[in-house]
Amino acid sequence: MAAAVVVEVAVVVEVALADTLKAIIAHAPIPRHKTSNLRIELFVLIIRQETPEDIAAIGYVNEQAFGGTAEADIVEKLRIRQAFILSLVAIDSDQVVGHILFTPVTIQSESSSLTAVGLGPLAVLPSHQSRGIGASLVSAGLEKCHQAGHKAVVVLGHPDYYPRFGFVPARTFNLKCEYPVPEEAFMALELSKGALANISGTVKYQPEFQDA
Ligand SMILES: CC(C)(COP(=O)(O)OP(=O)(O)OC[C@H]1O[C@@H](n2cnc3c(N)ncnc32)[C@H](O)[C@@H]1OP(=O)(O)O)[C@@H](O)C(=O)NCCC(=O)NCCS
Repeated sequence: MAAAVVVEVAVVVEVALADTLKAIIAHAPIPRHKTSNLRIELFVLIIRQETPEDIAAIGYVNEQAFGGTAEADIVEKLRIRQAFILSLVAIDSDQVVGHILFTPVTIQSESSSLTAVGLGPLAVLPSHQSRGIGASLVSAGLEKCHQAGHKAVVVLGHPDYYPRFGFVPARTFNLKCEYPVPEEAFMALELSKGALANISGTVKYQPEFQDA
């Protein structure tokens, strides 16, 4: 018989509901057809704002995910200056397994300057990747940015990963990155339709990204 295919599905919940949901999942496993080799495993994932107790674990997750300390150092420096908009952690079985940061960026044109949001770094522990944790962090973060009234988000990252969240090449909006990066790796997303329609210019990140 063919080996079982296991699909893990993250169920993202608020902290207050996590234990209840874990109990429900434990007592009501998904029914399986006898002949099917597909197994769906649900796991409870908490996405919440970082707390001071998470700081060491956030550093660890970034170091493990990126294979070095550069991104962890940027996060640390930005935290010292409180120069971020949102810092979310993903918790699986009481462990910080993922982290995402959103920072203020400015879009500088010849005549004006506009504030938007920069997504990144985004990191998931290698042992926990490809289980939807990165996607859950991005979706939750974008939702919170939208709720907070932010109009647009940019990201410098994998061109094959971010389009699933609606990001398109930033050049579509006549935006370019202040750093010399491959064009397709710099992407943008309007949280409010038309937010980037009449804007063009260079996106500038917090100085901590430059210093890395
Ligand atoms: C990128 C990252 C955050 C994704 O987290 P994750 O929890 O594994 O992501 P998800 O489970 O939500 O999504 C998995 C998908 O991401 C894709 N993916 C992972 N790394 C990728 C990469 N470097 N380029 C393109 N796609 C990538 C996987 O192929 C998979 O695709 P599929 O859904 O089509 O099968 C994680 O792989 C990571 O921490 N990588 C190292 C740090 C990093 O590169 N951070 C992002 C900087 S832009």
